[in-house]
Amino acid sequence: MKTENRGNFASKIGVLLATVGTAVGLGNVWRFPYVVGENGGGAFLLVYVLALLLLGIPGVIAEFIVGRHSQANAVDSFKKLAPKTKWHWIGYSGVLAGFLIMGYYAVVVGWTLEYLMQACMGSLSGLTTEQYGQMFDQFASHPYLPLIWMVIVMFVSHFVVSKGVSGGIEKASNILMPIFFLILLVMMVNSFFLPAASEGLTFLFKPDLSKLTPVSVLTAMGQTFFSLSLGMGCLITYSSYFKKDVKLPKIAAQVVSIDAMVAVISAVVIFPAVFSFGMQPEQGPSLVFKVLPNVFQQMPVGILWAILFYALLFIAALTSLISLHEVVTAYLYENTSMSRKKSSFLVAALVCVLGVFASLSFGKLSSLTIFGKTIFDALDFFTASILLPVGGFFISIFVGWFLDKRIVATELRIKHPKAHLFIKGYIYMMRFFVPACIFAVFLFTVFG
Ligand code: PHE
Repeated sequence: MKTENRGNFASKIGVLLATVGTAVGLGNVWRFPYVVGENGGGAFLLVYVLALLLLGIPGVIAEFIVGRHSQANAVDSFKKLAPKTKWHWIGYSGVLAGFLIMGYYAVVVGWTLEYLMQACMGSLSGLTTEQYGQMFDQFASHPYLPLIWMVIVMFVSHFVVSKGVSGGIEKASNILMPIFFLILLVMMVNSFFLPAASEGLTFLFKPDLSKLTPVSVLTAMGQTFFSLSLGMGCLITYSSYFKKDVKLPKIAAQVVSIDAMVAVISAVVIFPAVFSFGMQPEQGPSLVFKVLPNVFQQMPVGILWAILFYALLFIAALTSLISLHEVVTAYLYENTSMSRKKSSFLVAALVCVLGVFASLSFGKLSSLTIFGKTIFDALDFFTASILLPVGGFFISIFVGWFLDKRIVATELRIKHPKAHLFIKGYIYMMRFFVPACIFAVFLFTVFG
């Protein structure tokens, strides 16, 4: 194992922005608004916030403890903390999940670039909703256009990852995340001035508990997992670059709150707009590509809003893609004789190969299915619904039952007269509550 020159995040703000960068992604801007739409709005939001607090924060802290204490990649961290056991298989499952998620994530990041370019050229205007729908379908099923974008996206990601932790990932996050927040803020303020602002906000914030089903509770927990990048060693890898003076519970609380805020603000940006221009929120994943172009074109200076929105989506998705890329690269780099640059390039090239299949599953390969799902959907399902919950389940069991409590206490380093109570409570959560919740989500998504 290569351990020299692993690198560190140089500053505390770099730690925060990079970690927020992995968490905030398509899950927040693309998936969250339509999940809220499908699950009836406000009541779902309430459960989501609860899931973040009770499942999200302890889960993030667990990965931080493993990563920071071992100072190693997703696989070797378990080898170091639990030598001669099989726990490091959690790490293998994480590296595999990282690779497979990239296979479809890179395709979608490519779509955001196409839409950003279309918006810049002013061609996202003058069509009806049906025509925007057709435009998206034609593009996504095109034999090579989406592939060109995907290759460009992987090249950008490789450029960042090959430059290392502080010189690449931290630098990129320090530049991109402030731009992201600025755009998000501007779009949020604009949405308060739209004609149906109050209707959209009421839909989002007024809890209608009659709409709350067990299914929405489980969906909220699943969303928490994906959105926080939990269960696949991404946070283990990133926290292995944290210095010893980084306060883990504090960073965890900050990342979870910012991630939740971004999800809610994205919904605040989208719902008033959708209601104001007579559309329906329950449009599923195509909401941002098929419905929003028509919404933007009806706004004053619509082109500007379209450009800002797709730039927002692109930045969110790119920083998450970089974190996935880093998980696989760190493992390869530290376990082979390849340089970081070569490892990162190899990962990017392999992802492009997988991405070709994922992308073509909207066109030429649409009839090729695995358990009744297209390749794209199968990659999404196998990772988000199987590998992440299984990984998360075992990480919580590992931290709750197996890991020496003194390691947990050292890494949490809480200075408070009642610190031992907090640590005890935390370990109980990781032993029983967190694995039980994850198990329930898993059963529901796989067999429900
Ligand atoms: N959290 C990212 C999002 O919300 C997705 C992701 C999952 C990234 C797992 C890394 C690891 O889009």
